[in-house]
Amino acid sequence: MTSETTTTAPVGAIPAQPGPADVTDAEVGRGSEQVPSEVIAGAGPVVRPGERATVRLRETGTEEPPRYAPEWLELRESADAAARSHDLLDPLRIRLANLPGKAGGLVVHDLGCGTGSMGRWLAPRLDGSQHWILHDRDPYLLHFAAVASPRAAADGSRVTVETRRGDVARLTPDALVGASLVTASALLDVLTREEVDTLAEACTGAGCPALLTLSVAGRVELTPSHPLDTEIAEAFNAHQRRGGLLGPDAVTAACEAFADRGATVKVNPSAWRLGPDEKALTGQWLRGWVGAAVEERPELAGRADAYLAERLAANEAGELRVVVHHSDLLALARPTGGTS
Ligand SMILES: C[S@@+](CC[C@H](N)C(=O)[O-])C[C@H]1O[C@@H](n2cnc3c(N)ncnc32)[C@H](O)[C@@H]1O
Repeated sequence: MTSETTTTAPVGAIPAQPGPADVTDAEVGRGSEQVPSEVIAGAGPVVRPGERATVRLRETGTEEPPRYAPEWLELRESADAAARSHDLLDPLRIRLANLPGKAGGLVVHDLGCGTGSMGRWLAPRLDGSQHWILHDRDPYLLHFAAVASPRAAADGSRVTVETRRGDVARLTPDALVGASLVTASALLDVLTREEVDTLAEACTGAGCPALLTLSVAGRVELTPSHPLDTEIAEAFNAHQRRGGLLGPDAVTAACEAFADRGATVKVNPSAWRLGPDEKALTGQWLRGWVGAAVEERPELAGRADAYLAERLAANEAGELRVVVHHSDLLALARPTGGTS
C-alpha cells in the first residue's frame, strides 16, 4: 500500500471528541467547495450541477476520489454501532488471545477508517493495550479520526492511534507486518473484486484476522410498503455496481477471496433497524437511496420525486420503518507464526 503521510496522535494530547463543526473550512482548505447544507454529501450518490465529487461514485481518469462528508458518517455512527454483530467478537477475542507476541499489545489496522467510528466501537470491547493505525485516503476525515480516537481498552489499558493516508486497495502483506488485526467498516462494497482479492491476499499472507463490517447486502425493507420500493431498490443496487464496484456482491466476493486463501470465514447479519428515533438518518438515507436510483435510471425521475416526498413525509410523521440489511464478516487466516 502507498501511504503519503503518517502522523502520530498520542492519545493524551487529544481534546474532547469534536463534532464536525469543530474543524473549520479554513483549517482544511475547503472554503467555497463546502457542500450545500441541505444535502449531506456522501449520504448517497447524488451529484448536483456544480458540486464537487463528494459522493461515492467511482473516480475515472484524473477526477478526485470520492469523498464522504463527516456529517454523514457522524449521522450513521450510532445506527452502525447498534447494528454490528457482537457474535463475531468471541471468536475474534479467542484468536487475539492466542496470538504469539501479544504481550506487546495489539496492533490494529482500520482500513477506510473515515472519522474512526470502528475504533470507537471496537477498542473498548477488546482487552489489552492497543495501537490503532487508521488508514484513509481523505486527510480531512483522518483529522477527525485522530482527535476523536478511542482512549481505553475494555480492561482500561491504553489505546494509541496514528493515521496513515493512502490507498487501501493496494495493501500488501508487508504493510501488515506486526499486525494483530485488520478492520474495516462500510468499505468492502466500494471496492472492486480485484481490490478485495488484494485485501484478502494481504491479510492471509500476513496471517492476520480481519473483521470487515457493515457491507451492504442489497436488501431493504420499508414499512409500510410501496409499489415503487422494488424498482428503486433494483436501480440503487445497479448504481452501486457501477464501474466494477462490488456493491451488494461484496460479502460473497470477500468470503470467496478469504476462503480460497485458506481462511475460516464467518458472516453475520448487521442490519440498520430505523424507526421514529432515527428520523434524521432515515431521511438522509432515503435522499441518497432514491437519488442514486434516479441517477441510474433517469426515467424513474417523475415517479421517484413523488415517492421520495411521500416517504419523507411518513418519516417526519414517525410512520416509517426501514431495515437496511448489511453483513459483518470475520476472516480467520491461518496464523503464519510471527507477531501477526
Ligand atoms: C462509507 S465510508 C466508511 C467510513 C468508516 N469506516 C465508517 O464506518 O464510518 C468509506 C471510507 O473509506 C474510504 N476509502 C474508500 N476507498 C478507499 C481507498 N481505496 N483507500 C483509502 N480509503 C478509502 C473513504 O475515504 C471513506 O472514509
